[in-house]
Amino acid sequence: MSPIEHKQQQVEATLKLAPVVPVVIIDDAKAAVPMARALVAGGTPAIEVTLRTPAALEAIRAIAAEVEGAVVGVGTVLTPKDLHAAQQAGARFAVSPGVSPKLLDAADDSELPLLPGTATASEVMHLLERGYRFLKFFPAVPAGGHKLIGAWASPLPQVRFCPTGGISLANAHDFLGLPNVVCVGGSWLTPADKLKAGDWAGIEQLAREAKALR
Ligand code: 3PG
Repeated sequence: MSPIEHKQQQVEATLKLAPVVPVVIIDDAKAAVPMARALVAGGTPAIEVTLRTPAALEAIRAIAAEVEGAVVGVGTVLTPKDLHAAQQAGARFAVSPGVSPKLLDAADDSELPLLPGTATASEVMHLLERGYRFLKFFPAVPAGGHKLIGAWASPLPQVRFCPTGGISLANAHDFLGLPNVVCVGGSWLTPADKLKAGDWAGIEQLAREAKALR
């Protein structure tokens, strides 16, 4: 099996853990472990911690080391340096909002599986050429929503998407019902107010509702 196919199979297994991948923006690394325990308890164990705050890498390290059952990934990966830092911190998968040649080359050289972002058929074709079958569709709702992904099912049947961006409990069904959607991503499971208040029971409940989507 080629290295990229091996990583694609790892991504597939991760994306199939639950219908929703929580996308986390974390300000306080101390919140990481109880938050991740709540997400695992609620049934959404694949967790994307975005590199949008100074606390992100420490949060990934803590979840990787301390939270049994969590599969922690890194989001908002823009550069080869981001990929490397996330791998060192213990991330098990990486997610990018789009792609660049430098990032794809670095991903080829890395053992960390990448879920690259796409918003056009040309980007999808480019990533297919590089061996990717599992892609993030971003930003899902502004870029065309479930109708755009649905329209790709016939000409691009070999691709599976994780749409992210503008998805909530209210519209997740529109995406999860499509044959080419494996799961969705969203930040609604870990809202800033609940993280700040340490409302882990509330986050667990949001995860439970998300898990029940499928
Ligand atoms: C992402 O990082 O993929 C998105 O910002 C998450 O989008 P959402 O906040 O609309 O769920």
